[in-house]
Amino acid sequence: MQAGDVLGHEFLGEVVEVGPDVRNHNVGDRVVVSSFISCGKCWFCANDLYSCCDNGNTNPAITETLWGQAPGGCYGYSHAMGGFKGSHAQYIRVPFADVGAFRIPDGVSDERALFASDSAPTGWMGADLGGVKPGDVVAVWGAGAVGQMAARASVLLGAERVIVIDRFDYRLAMTERHIGAETINYTRTSVEGELRERTGGRGPDVCIEAVGMEAHSTGPQYLYDQVKQQLRLQQDRPSAVRDAIHACRKAGTVFVLGVFAGMVDKFPLGAVMNKGLTVRSAQMHGQRYIPMLLDRMERGELVTEHLATHVLPLDEAPTGYQLFKDKQDDCVRSVFIP
Ligand SMILES: NC(=O)c1ccc[n+]([C@@H]2O[C@H](COP(=O)([O-])OP(=O)(O)OC[C@H]3O[C@@H](n4cnc5c(N)ncnc54)[C@H](O)[C@@H]3O)[C@@H](O)[C@H]2O)c1
Ligand SMILES: [Zn+2]
Repeated sequence: MQAGDVLGHEFLGEVVEVGPDVRNHNVGDRVVVSSFISCGKCWFCANDLYSCCDNGNTNPAITETLWGQAPGGCYGYSHAMGGFKGSHAQYIRVPFADVGAFRIPDGVSDERALFASDSAPTGWMGADLGGVKPGDVVAVWGAGAVGQMAARASVLLGAERVIVIDRFDYRLAMTERHIGAETINYTRTSVEGELRERTGGRGPDVCIEAVGMEAHSTGPQYLYDQVKQQLRLQQDRPSAVRDAIHACRKAGTVFVLGVFAGMVDKFPLGAVMNKGLTVRSAQMHGQRYIPMLLDRMERGELVTEHLATHVLPLDEAPTGYQLFKDKQDDCVRSVFIP
């Protein structure tokens, strides 16, 4: 990030101006926008892999050096992802608007539609590309907006049991009430033991990690990860990824939704190999899922407004960020109205 950058990539709003090449949108339309910027024309977009777009990131050199190839661009998400100005602002420019912006059905409220921008398609992608099918047992690490959406997607895709893991009781209670999933508080019990118990000893078919590089954990490995991260000897803390790999049933799938930036330590490749696991991951392919999600929101199958725990004027964004970061006052998402 650089001074003056504008943050934010989960947003909706009213169209106030359209560029000359925009065909699908008119001034006055209420639209929700995919957080990833994709051209809709390259090989990756043509294959529904929108966040891997070849043309969305105008500044690909950084990630090409880091990762070998550059993913698409993302609003308000650092210069590595194109340096686009984000959505915590009165106005935002939406490149490739015909591909990335979607008209919101009149019956869907702002508080519901907002999450079609990022959290809901991210969660849906985890369940979809994780291969969740009817009868599966799915475990989800993290009961934030993304984990809750992954759990709801798993329920809607027919999973027999969906179990969400976190340490915050208020998030777990919300998950039980609004998502219809079971929960485990990992500070009170052995997650692996509990998952075995609830799956007749076999382990979950699909494990979805929705925690990311700032994972917390218990025991010496957490301390080790923190020290290495503070000393810049590893970039990310992959505690929940390790847990998911260990807990997953043999020949199951682990889908990593949590964001990681670079190198991690103590990645259990031996478990992946010997248990025959499939490990998948991606930044979200929003354009692939948003129309379907808006339909489900309209039908009431996908409820998201409970995630908007703090709705604040944009001037109070620093408070909103602090509440979210420290998980104070039962915060799940701070939402800003310019
Ligand atoms: N792949 C994508 O395209 C995409 C899109 C959006 C967000 N994300 C990423 O998804 C992750 C989750 O996002 P969010 O908005 O829900 O975040 P959040 O901070 O609201 O939720 C993360 C949750 O994980 C829990 N957690 C921490 N350590 C844990 C552990 N060891 N086991 C179980 N739970 C643990 C936290 O208590 C918290 O409730 C982040 O890394 C975010 O960057 C990815
Ligand atoms: Zn593309």
